[in-house]
Amino acid sequence: VIDISKLYAQTGMFTYDPGFTSTGSCESKITYIDGDEGVLLYRGYPIEQIAEGGDFLDTCYLLLYGELPTSEQKLDFVKRVTNHTMVHEQMSRFFQGFRRDAHPMAIMVGSVGALSAFYHDSTDISDPTQRMIASIRMIAKMPTLAAMAFKYSIGQPFMYPQNDLDYATNFLQMCFAVPCEPYKANPILSKAMDRIFILHADHEQNASTSTVRLAGSSGANPFACIAAGIASLWGPAHGGANEAALKMLAEIGSVDRIPEYIKRSKDKNDSFRLMGFGHRVYKHYDPRAKIMQQTCHEVLKEVGINDPLLDVAMELERIALSDDYFIEKKLYPNVDFYSGITLRAMGFPTDMFTVLFAVARTVGWIAQWKEMIEDPAQKIGRPRQLYSGATRRDYVAEGKRK
Ligand code: ACO
Repeated sequence: VIDISKLYAQTGMFTYDPGFTSTGSCESKITYIDGDEGVLLYRGYPIEQIAEGGDFLDTCYLLLYGELPTSEQKLDFVKRVTNHTMVHEQMSRFFQGFRRDAHPMAIMVGSVGALSAFYHDSTDISDPTQRMIASIRMIAKMPTLAAMAFKYSIGQPFMYPQNDLDYATNFLQMCFAVPCEPYKANPILSKAMDRIFILHADHEQNASTSTVRLAGSSGANPFACIAAGIASLWGPAHGGANEAALKMLAEIGSVDRIPEYIKRSKDKNDSFRLMGFGHRVYKHYDPRAKIMQQTCHEVLKEVGINDPLLDVAMELERIALSDDYFIEKKLYPNVDFYSGITLRAMGFPTDMFTVLFAVARTVGWIAQWKEMIEDPAQKIGRPRQLYSGATRRDYVAEGKRK
């Protein structure tokens, strides 16, 4: 049935690699991961150092341009981003079309996809200036759209961006401020938000980034490509894992129930997995998870919450890391394991978690999209398949079918 030799003859080589576990889809200079050692570098800089010393817009500049900005370049970049934080006024009417109880990720897929209808003056991908304007627009407008999705879901009026605030504080303001009341920024929460954005900014060829590249390889406009990335990110095996991890911790509920869930996660007849554990690339502790754990402690201390789910999480981690099954399969907590508890303590409902991930990852998607468009070796993505269907047969007229 399957004539691999024919395919081989056509292409010179044919590989069958479900999940692309050993297929490099592109060359990239943006992000490096050493999964065995637990190393993550953005343009060569370790994530720990960026999270400690940098801020999110520094990270955006670095990912987009390849170098850290000088003070002058940073000032100019911040100015360009803040110039674009507003969304077209008609976007707010567009939002009214969604049901009140729509998942904010559904709203994000729709509204980001619609950006190309509002900003067609930056959709000519052959023009480097338009490509950069579209990139800046995406980075600037994502927090605004995400906050609008949140406000819409809780029935509160949209808050406009305040361009005198830094990126993370402005986002928190748009989410949590209410009209006629001055917004009191909390520097610890702003720092935590900024760090969460840094940690999620890029992660080489994961499912959503590969989706953005594949969509973009046909020449689709950047807004449409990012919308495709958001759709891919939504799944529980990817960006939806932080929401799933928190739900799991809540379901476990108390430390004494952990062994039952550990047992279930190892049972091959049970589809249950420990959410926030395991990673396709990291076969070592995810370096982002360590920073996330520390950020989680800082946020809980600041807001004065003694969250029993943190106790469940820490005990679950302790038990799993000394369990033969997890050791043998090299399953460690990933970045999503502690981010849910942190975001909840900051006041976000679970269905916003993946939205925040999308806000952060937008710069990675756009940097990867730009790199692909600017790569002279770029071609439309067109994987082959291993056909295992019927061999040739004659068409049967409707009345004669059995
Ligand atoms: N709990 C229990 N067992 C697990 C887990 C887990 N979380 N993750 C993997 N395993 C087991 C699998 O059952 C499999 O066992 P087997 O070899 O006996 O069949 C083995 O480990 C390998 O798992 P795969 O699914 O083949 O590994 P893959 O690399 O394809 O999957 C993934 C990685 C999707 C992240 C997986 O570990 C998982 O589902 N984790 C939970 C969801 C999650 O946290 N996702 C977030 C990823 S990070 C991110 O997107 C930011």
